[in-house]
Amino acid sequence: TRGALGTASAALVLAVGCRGPQSALDPGGREAAQLADLFWLMTWGSAVVWLASVGLAVYAAYVPRAPISTDAANRLVVVFGAVIPTLVLGALLVHGLGMIPGLLAPAPRGALEIEVVGEQWWWRVRHRDADGRIVESANELRLPAGVPVQLSLETRDVIHAFWIPALGGKVDMIPGRRTQLRLEPTRPGVYRGVCAEYCGTSHTWMAFAAIVETQRDHEAWLAHELGDALEPTTAIARRGASLFLENGCSACHAIRGTAADGTVGPDLTHVGSRHTIGAGRLDRGPEALRRWIADPERLKSGVHMPAFEMLPGDELDALAAYLESLR
Ligand code: CUA
Repeated sequence: TRGALGTASAALVLAVGCRGPQSALDPGGREAAQLADLFWLMTWGSAVVWLASVGLAVYAAYVPRAPISTDAANRLVVVFGAVIPTLVLGALLVHGLGMIPGLLAPAPRGALEIEVVGEQWWWRVRHRDADGRIVESANELRLPAGVPVQLSLETRDVIHAFWIPALGGKVDMIPGRRTQLRLEPTRPGVYRGVCAEYCGTSHTWMAFAAIVETQRDHEAWLAHELGDALEPTTAIARRGASLFLENGCSACHAIRGTAADGTVGPDLTHVGSRHTIGAGRLDRGPEALRRWIADPERLKSGVHMPAFEMLPGDELDALAAYLESLR
């Protein structure tokens, strides 16, 4: 039974690994589909080599037969030990190398351009509309399905790596350099992106959402995103808006259309509509915002934002209500 249990758990792990918003084997884009095909081709190619070698070893060990000449034995070793592996692995190598120019080529003219800056431990994202107007947000990429995207990647501190496994390859963000990545998402959905290079204590909590939507939805979102923050409509949110300025939150954060114009931390203009809080650390919602404002360090070790635990509970509630209203 132990063996059966082991096999069952291994099968479960394999099955889970092949599905989901962060799986390179469940592609939602053109480049990721090519990479997934390559993975399976490599897997089957290795299986052929493995079966040929192990099959021969099993045959030699268990099948009774008359002794063969040394020459015949040598030929078998050469064919199964060198010729077949060289042909199979050589073909896979040539095929894999042949894919590189296509994956590295810049996106065609007129492709959507998005700038992403990696910072310890979040992502500054600048989307651009058709007229070249730029809008900044954080920890969220919005991509129209079926449109090639050219990503321009930078870092403000250490080396990070940008990776959306379900959409394409992984590219490092190196201090002093600007690297590029081309993606063409094909299937609408919410995918998970991660930092794939160890970059300090809270590297684990440097995730982001990549939302692939129809072109029409994307244009509507971009038009809304370019606008200023919504005026708070409830009394508690209005109180939160004043507290935001009084407590100096605006020294680090910008909220367009208000006096808050800090650039150190994430732009919060539409923070209430984002999928997560703290670059993947917490699910969205006022409770998460309140926990984050009160003590970010407890949630994300080494974070640059100070804690605001000293504020009375009703003030934390008001701040959370205000940020939640920024849709
Ligand atoms: Cu950024 Cu790891």
